[in-house]
Amino acid sequence: MKIALYQFAPLWGNVPGNLKKIESILCSHANIDLWILPELCTTGYLFNSKVEIGSVSEPFPGGQTSSWLKSITKRLNASVIMGVAEKCKEKLYNSAIVFDNGFHVGAYRKIHLFDNEKNLFDPGNEAPEVFTVRGVRIGVMICFDWIFPEAARTLALNGAQIIAHPANLVLPYCPDAMVTRSIENRVFTATANRIGTERLSDGQQLTFIGNSQATNIFGKRLGQLSKDREGVLIFDIDPAESNSKSITQNNDLFMDRKPELYRLN
Ligand code: ACM
Repeated sequence: MKIALYQFAPLWGNVPGNLKKIESILCSHANIDLWILPELCTTGYLFNSKVEIGSVSEPFPGGQTSSWLKSITKRLNASVIMGVAEKCKEKLYNSAIVFDNGFHVGAYRKIHLFDNEKNLFDPGNEAPEVFTVRGVRIGVMICFDWIFPEAARTLALNGAQIIAHPANLVLPYCPDAMVTRSIENRVFTATANRIGTERLSDGQQLTFIGNSQATNIFGKRLGQLSKDREGVLIFDIDPAESNSKSITQNNDLFMDRKPELYRLN
């Protein structure tokens, strides 16, 4: 499977402008099976209020981004996983949408909201999900989910071969943590982060750390983008490499777990 991550600075509050920018990049690369784009990549990240983020949020299906996804994934015969602001009835979610070759495969709604996201979005209330796309089992989680190892573990235990991870990272630890997530779960990971700085009139400001990366099932980086420049990272994987969880002749990553002793609740 040939996968591409697109790291960029979304135009704040400008959904059509971002779709146009993304389309020009996607259309200038041939033969990509799966594109992974950052969290909230059609809207930008920092908003003053629910009303403000609500004004650029969209239903899936039904809005301009879902129509665009339908047509671009069909035209390119590719899959796209991208972060969006999703409106569903009275609720607003920080979501990742999965499209393949003209079809809406599904969506994941971020469950671990970061900082001020708690004032803007409703948390998703379903576990991170594994979607089968082109025969490959792709787990999806969003940005701050990385700090809860349970998110990646849930995906791996449910059969994910690769974890697609749209992000708007601000803390510096995630790229190294994702190396561990891949080692401890024997999965590929692909973090598509954004770059740039956003500011609000009340003085809130965030700078995003870029450094989008992919890791293999042993935590080796297959590539990493810069901290502050737009770019595309392309890598090839054989998803089946993640199927064996054998560590030694006598150890298996999943079978050796002791859930009855962990007392997680
Ligand atoms: C984050 O979850 N966007 C830091």
